[in-house]
Amino acid sequence: MKINEANLDQMAVSPSQYPRDGLKEVALVGRSNVGKSSFLNKIAGRKNLAYTSSKPGKTRTINFYSFNKTFRLVDLPGYGFAQVSKSMRKDWAKMINSYLESRDNLLEILLLVDLRVKPSDQDKEMLSWILDNGFSGIVIGTKADKLSKNQLQQQLVRVHKELGCPEEQDILPFSTERKDLVEESKNFLQDLFAFHGVKI
Ligand code: GTP
Ligand code: MG
Repeated sequence: MKINEANLDQMAVSPSQYPRDGLKEVALVGRSNVGKSSFLNKIAGRKNLAYTSSKPGKTRTINFYSFNKTFRLVDLPGYGFAQVSKSMRKDWAKMINSYLESRDNLLEILLLVDLRVKPSDQDKEMLSWILDNGFSGIVIGTKADKLSKNQLQQQLVRVHKELGCPEEQDILPFSTERKDLVEESKNFLQDLFAFHGVKI
């Protein structure tokens, strides 16, 4: 898959601000700091298309990015970020839920989890919600570069079990630091969109 063009089409906090065209979307969800915006940048082949930060809570709106004018990745704020007030957390949850529940363009939701960390209750709840709502339950395991080869294999199995992933759906390892894994994720996305009739 070759990305010639990637654009931030829209930043939204409510459905009236979502793009109105029919481009199909895949959304990125997961804990704050897990690497959603970094994943998106690697797919785009651009360093700073989506803003990233070593501090959690960087992405605060729903950000719609189109690629080659043929498909979108949607970057969502992360959950589990303690440094915001309860009422703000509630607003974010509402914002994320209304997107996930109501967006017709949405084909699949990718749940990103840090392979070094035990999945949180919110990760488990998110995966259950994803599966209950007819999505496949695709999980991307991030920061694979921080693990040895053996640790990586162990964690892929362990996190799969702890999260309650579907038996037939392996976790896809990812790292911003590994070209081979970036390429695998690009191929994965290409196949996923192709499955839904979007040729990229
Ligand atoms: P929020 O916007 O707060 O929800 O976070 P996010 O999930 O978008 O995370 P972001 O992409 O901003 O990355 C958080 C931090 O993790 C940054 O410092 C990234 O450089 C780092 N990071 C992301 N992915 C990887 C990875 O695969 N390997 C390593 N070593 N660091 C990574
Ligand atoms: Mg982000």
